[in-house]
Amino acid sequence: MVKGKTISKAIGIHKYYDSRSEPVHALRGVDIEVFQGEILAIVGPSGCGKTTLLNCLSGIDVPNEGKIFFNGLEISSMNEKERTKLRGRYMGFVFQFYNLVPSLTAVENVELPLLARGMDPRTAREKAREILKMLKLTHRLKAYPEELSGGEQQRVAIARAIVNDPMVIWADEPTGALDTETGFEIIRLLVNLSKENGTAVVVVTHDERLTKYADRIMYMDSGKIVRMERNLQGSWAGDRGIR
Ligand SMILES: Nc1ncnc2c1ncn2[C@@H]1O[C@H](COP(=O)(O)OP(=O)(O)O)[C@@H](O)[C@H]1O
Ligand SMILES: [Mg+2]
Repeated sequence: MVKGKTISKAIGIHKYYDSRSEPVHALRGVDIEVFQGEILAIVGPSGCGKTTLLNCLSGIDVPNEGKIFFNGLEISSMNEKERTKLRGRYMGFVFQFYNLVPSLTAVENVELPLLARGMDPRTAREKAREILKMLKLTHRLKAYPEELSGGEQQRVAIARAIVNDPMVIWADEPTGALDTETGFEIIRLLVNLSKENGTAVVVVTHDERLTKYADRIMYMDSGKIVRMERNLQGSWAGDRGIR
């Protein structure tokens, strides 16, 4: 796999929130680059701006100052519609609490991004089933989210995130709500994904089992990057056998 291509880049990012009491300066000058195929872990205390940064990098939100590029395009100057389109086509998302659509079955949740980009329903269904099979969920295709365990819901969320072959997966504390064993399964999935498909995985996490496999660990505090660590034991270091 070729490494080194820049997928996402942020230059001089500042983000303010107008809250009713006083404005919050959530990001205070963040510069960051994310490369193809890497696992970048983001670590830092609660409230330091991790989710805000993911939201800005992925174009869910826009910064007040600075520029964000995705695959060479400046997304910080795009309108919401353009950003949404880009997200749907090139990015996958995994959240702590899964964020599946409760009124849709597992397979319907997974085919949603495909239908959104205009794939014909039969092909979309086939592809969604295929991905769910890979994640060992064939027996749960027709289950609704509330009928699934936390780990199963997170696997459906990962299926939904990868069904479009994204260039990057943004994951916000993906193991935060899972028990140890299930959390490890999710970690294994994310690591293998980045290794096998060259997907960049940017993951906010406190889970040391996950940071261990990250190629770089970025430490944040009070809206800033305070340290960037290269992990020579990370997934790029070769087959160190997480499988
Ligand atoms: N929608 C919002 N409105 C006002 N303040 C917010 C909003 N979202 C986050 N914040 C504030 O911005 C700061 C960073 O939040 P966040 O990015 O969620 O941190 P983290 O994910 O590291 O816990 C916190 O002080 C938080 O209270
Ligand atoms: Mg957060």
